Amino acid sequence: MEKKDVIEKILGQRQYIPRQDTATAFAPANIALCKYWGKRNSLINLPCTSSISISLGDQGTTTSITPIDSHGDIFYVNGQHIPLTSKFAARMQQFLDLFRYPQKKFFEIKTISTLPIGAGFATSASGYAALILALNTLFDWKLSKKNLSILARMGSGSASRSLWQGFVLWRMGSLKNGMDSYASPIPLVWPQLRIGLITISDQEKKWDSSTGMALSLQSPFYRCWIRKTQQDCLAIKKTIKDQDFSQFGALVESNALAMHSLIQTSWPPIYYTLPQTLAVIHRIWELRDQGLGVYFTQDAGPNLKLLFLADNEKDVAQFFPKLQIVNPFAYLS
Ligand code: PMV
Repeated sequence: MEKKDVIEKILGQRQYIPRQDTATAFAPANIALCKYWGKRNSLINLPCTSSISISLGDQGTTTSITPIDSHGDIFYVNGQHIPLTSKFAARMQQFLDLFRYPQKKFFEIKTISTLPIGAGFATSASGYAALILALNTLFDWKLSKKNLSILARMGSGSASRSLWQGFVLWRMGSLKNGMDSYASPIPLVWPQLRIGLITISDQEKKWDSSTGMALSLQSPFYRCWIRKTQQDCLAIKKTIKDQDFSQFGALVESNALAMHSLIQTSWPPIYYTLPQTLAVIHRIWELRDQGLGVYFTQDAGPNLKLLFLADNEKDVAQFFPKLQIVNPFAYLS
């Protein structure tokens, strides 16, 4: 099964005729609390485990798509023209190849991201989710959120979770064609929960997540990682239900540390953590020893995301003055 087969299955008889000149959509970035790291099928991004995320409210990507009469796609990111030879444009063109239509084959894509791109802040998730939402509007496909989640997964796995605010669960599914591997919201709110973003570097990461995931298969800890993540997913969901913050924070942090142990023991080796990342991690542990309820998670980059409750917001902000604080449930309608 390839991406184009999945798309054909979902779009069926639907036509690729634009219903408007330009369509625009926003999707939030999402931070995995229980990580997706490992593909059972890399052609259509099928994961080896389920995963859980929290969306970041108004932090994410807004994308406009306009069909154009031209010899190629045109990309703008945050107002800046991006050459077609760049890594970003190459990935986007490949994805758009799945949705070309004969009359006007190419697109102008304008993307605005509130977070640094490619630095482990889940901008590929919000980017592909926003693009799929914009295509759905442009062609008036009227697809269900389930099918939009599957289509977003064709761009990047974590994009399947970026169609909702709040807590989201991406079930790994078991079908070979991946039709049961899509995300849906977890109907639980935690109004006290806060996420703090710490930018250590906004440089694009050296190893994209697909490369990282493939190399991780070489780690001697791969099987342990899969087993742990399956257990963590269930346990994290329970702590969300019980609003047990210290258990929640401990499980989320330990899942991220396990993922990085796996990554660091792959071959050739990958290290997303920088010395400054480690310095902040030690500071978090010191503060926790002193009684402050703050935990962290880290994705495929050096930046950290802190987890704490609203009651501790002032203290956490005082220790990390550059922290960008997100109240994820302020945006749940
Ligand atoms: O969706 P991808 O291929 O960019 O991979 C995402 C990987 C992590 O961000 C590290 C984990 C996750 O579940 O989002």
